[in-house]
Amino acid sequence: MQLQGQVALITGAGRGIGKAIALRFAREGADIAVLDIKSEGAQTTAEEIQALGRRTFVKIVDVSHCEAAQAAVHEAAAALGRLDIIVNNAGIGKAQHFLSVTKENWERHINIHLNGSFYCAQAAAQEMAKRKYGRIINIASIAGLIGPIDLAPYGAAKAGIIGMTRTAALDLADYGITANAIAPGPIDTELLRTWPPDALRDRAQHMPIARLGTVEEIAHAALFLASPDSGFITGTVLTVDGGSIAAGSYMVEKYRRRKTGA
Ligand SMILES: NC(=O)c1ccc[n+]([C@@H]2O[C@H](COP(=O)([O-])OP(=O)(O)OC[C@H]3O[C@@H](n4cnc5c(N)ncnc54)[C@H](O)[C@@H]3O)[C@@H](O)[C@H]2O)c1
Repeated sequence: MQLQGQVALITGAGRGIGKAIALRFAREGADIAVLDIKSEGAQTTAEEIQALGRRTFVKIVDVSHCEAAQAAVHEAAAALGRLDIIVNNAGIGKAQHFLSVTKENWERHINIHLNGSFYCAQAAAQEMAKRKYGRIINIASIAGLIGPIDLAPYGAAKAGIIGMTRTAALDLADYGITANAIAPGPIDTELLRTWPPDALRDRAQHMPIARLGTVEEIAHAALFLASPDSGFITGTVLTVDGGSIAAGSYMVEKYRRRKTGA
């Protein structure tokens, strides 16, 4: 029970990685604020958390709307009595070749991922600063560390999240608040299952650990950073990616060997 008596807020907790983090934190003793743009998933997540004996607060909100998102964070802290942890996880992903990225797609990614993470992190930090304790965890992506093909707005937003995390770590250190990012590789969620099955299989073969990651593996990393024991870890990016970043372009060679059985 690493989070006994604590309160965590998770954005995009209605399904996928966010839901897995919410349930994992609840099992560790935390009460959970569930924020999502969609009602159905958020309510289901909240019911599953309540079944574990924890309190919940649910808010249907678009994190890219500054006033609404920040009000939701303050409301959550008031409803559950405090705020110890925030996980900025809400996100989207739409592939477009660089030559045809639309203004709308560019702005949507920046608004939801980068702006939304900042709005929520700032409001959360204001709550955390009152008690001089907090853990901010931003879900970035390996796409923020390397150049993702056909994902210019997504990669730019995720790189921005990593930059924002580093400054948050510096500015908030005197308030007992840590800020870290997690950079997942491809994780088996509905977001990724929009890809054609062949492309998905192929993607896994391009990683040293030749499979997609699981949502539980990201939840495990989030719990590590959320733990009170992680107080000396701040401003970092934790890759949870089956070795993808470590391999870099050498992975092309390993993939070729796999294909030919050499
Ligand atoms: N799945 C992967 O391979 C992968 C890899 C790296 C990073 N990530 C990141 O992890 C996070 C979660 O991804 P996932 O795969 O679980 O996706 P998902 O689509 O399964 O879940 C995303 C959740 O965010 C919510 N959401 C979307 N836009 C929102 C908004 N504007 N306001 C509030 N909620 C909103 C959705 O309703 C949904 O419940 C995202 O930030 C994504 O970029 C995912």
